[in-house]
Amino acid sequence: MFEEIEKYAQENFVPIIRPQTRKILIDEIKKASPTKILEIGSAIGYSGLCMLVASSAYLVTIEKDERRAKLAKQNFERYNLQNRVEIFNDDALVVLNQLVAQKAQFDFVFLDGPKGQYQRYLPLICNLLSKGGILFADNVSVMGLVDSNEPIKHKHRTMVVNMRNFLHEMQASSQFESKILKVEDGILIAKRI
Ligand SMILES: C[S@@+](CC[C@H](N)C(=O)[O-])C[C@H]1O[C@@H](n2cnc3c(N)ncnc32)[C@H](O)[C@@H]1O
Repeated sequence: MFEEIEKYAQENFVPIIRPQTRKILIDEIKKASPTKILEIGSAIGYSGLCMLVASSAYLVTIEKDERRAKLAKQNFERYNLQNRVEIFNDDALVVLNQLVAQKAQFDFVFLDGPKGQYQRYLPLICNLLSKGGILFADNVSVMGLVDSNEPIKHKHRTMVVNMRNFLHEMQASSQFESKILKVEDGILIAKRI
């Protein structure tokens, strides 16, 4: 549906959700029928648009990169969806803390920001996600490195260790029922109990 945005992303090396993961995300959105979605990592608005057209929800989305946040805004306007979106052009940690302070609540969270920060964001997301809400996290395999028994290169080590810790915490948590799908770069889908 958003082929021009897909083309732009490919030509300009903007990482956007992969096809099978996108299909699963859309199915989960349709199943959950959320009223308020939080997205961490808007990029140029591609996954945000997919979630908006699959639901009647309001979207709050966070993107640190100024150029990408601007393009995301333009893309929401292009499809006349700007009234259903708020974009924060800031660091996700800053915005998540602000949302917690405002006692904001969401019934769906799409976590697709910096892979080394998922564990750090978890207590804030827990606070922001209402009971029965869904957390959908992409790239939890981190290019297959999370399950690898090989030594991890120094440049990836912190990110992989943090992701392993995030997954352990999620699976041990009494606040979530979670499953991991080994599709594309790995997806975690968790329901807040
Ligand atoms: C995988 S991309 C998001 C793709 C998008 N969800 C989609 O599928 O269309 C991750 C995005 O997170 C952004 N990002 C990285 N670190 C961030 C941070 N600390 N706070 C907010 N956004 C961040 C990157 O600039 C990048 O655009």
